[in-house]
Amino acid sequence: MPKHTIVTMPGDGIGNQVLPEATRVLDAVGFEANYVHADIGWECWRNEGNALPERTIELLRQHKVGLFGAITSKPRKEAAAELSPALNGKGHQYYSPIVSMRQIFNLDVCMRPCLSFPGNPLNFIRKRPDGGYEEPKVDVVVFRQNTEGLYAGVEWTNPPQPVRDALATHSKFKPFANVPGADLAISVRIITRPAARRICEAAFRHARKFGYKSVTICEKPNVLRETSGMMEEVARQVQKEFVDIALWSTNIDAQTMWLTKNPEDYGVIIASNLFGDVISDAFAGLVGGLGFAASGNIGDEVAVFEPTHGSAPKYAELDPPIVNPIAMILSAAMMLDHLGGTDKATKIRAAIAAVISEGRIRTYDMMRISGGAKSIAQGAASTTQITDAILSKLEVGVEAVTV
Ligand code: NAI
Ligand code: MG
Repeated sequence: MPKHTIVTMPGDGIGNQVLPEATRVLDAVGFEANYVHADIGWECWRNEGNALPERTIELLRQHKVGLFGAITSKPRKEAAAELSPALNGKGHQYYSPIVSMRQIFNLDVCMRPCLSFPGNPLNFIRKRPDGGYEEPKVDVVVFRQNTEGLYAGVEWTNPPQPVRDALATHSKFKPFANVPGADLAISVRIITRPAARRICEAAFRHARKFGYKSVTICEKPNVLRETSGMMEEVARQVQKEFVDIALWSTNIDAQTMWLTKNPEDYGVIIASNLFGDVISDAFAGLVGGLGFAASGNIGDEVAVFEPTHGSAPKYAELDPPIVNPIAMILSAAMMLDHLGGTDKATKIRAAIAAVISEGRIRTYDMMRISGGAKSIAQGAASTTQITDAILSKLEVGVEAVTV
């Protein structure tokens, strides 16, 4: 692989604990990179009035690939109260730096793998009709449209009159026409055909590359006829270019109900922004939850890889750190896949699988005990210890383990 420059954005709280563990693992598999630190998150907001400083945007623009830890974000009022006094009254508004990053670089494809590692005590277990138990093998990758849908941000409480007038042209708006503005909140669900096509194509390409037999479009076209309808229509069109891969269509509500019935039947899943957010968390819950949920935000030019979890402030000050770095390390492995280093990524996943199946070294979440300083005394591994275990598996080479 050519030498890459990676923009590292640890952010806030435990982001600062897990990201360095990921770069240790990347070094160990021989990934040659320069790491350039970039600021992001709560301190940037407090001191500069901007959680995503221009210099960070510039570094991403220049180097194209980012590894991101997590940030702390707070509601508007609390954010305003914590702004440095020197910046007060200067018109600063808090915006989530992750949402901004997705919008600025059009990181419209969000990829969230949910893979069960054999031996993970957090894996979903299902009761069989004969009274026994079984652990279905979950290997799902959710492709979530990342920039549109209900998260596009086009919303109002007390919508302005021209918006009300436009809505009044729709017969279904009649029951709401006389609701007072202060009592009326509206969020717009926007789907565009080009973005729908991009997420569908990315999903099918991934299915083909990694041998998944089916792609499922998970929407609600029987009710959301226009928006979910367009997503489904585009998925059907794209499938014509991938005839070897089956296209299934499920409704988001039913899919959630079936989650625990037959999760092993699903491969790649496509969903619009909100539904993708929901269904990826739901599947992540079957395979260990936040300590295991990795993601990639991928655009044409720039891609940023991050664990799904947040900054977990209540654990951020613990010394030694106790949180599970695996979600971050899996995110780094996704970055390697993206950069053409799937051989190295596979080694990392195999080393993680070996540590988990051995079961000797587990962070507190894998032991199902409460987190906190006492968890180490109860036998939980620290963040560094579990990374050390992964590194030792890499040293001996455990490629034979299949995940
Ligand atoms: P969170 O994901 O930070 O933590 C929730 C709980 O999950 C933690 O208290 C901990 O028990 C567990 N947890 C999270 N990561 C873990 C890990 N790696 N290993 C073991 N256990 C882990 O979510 P929360 O508490 O709702 O939010 C905290 C802050 O993070 C908020 O300011 C929120 O806005 C922000 N946030 C940021 C995200 C991001 O940067 N992508 C995503 C979600 C929340
Ligand atoms: Mg979420």
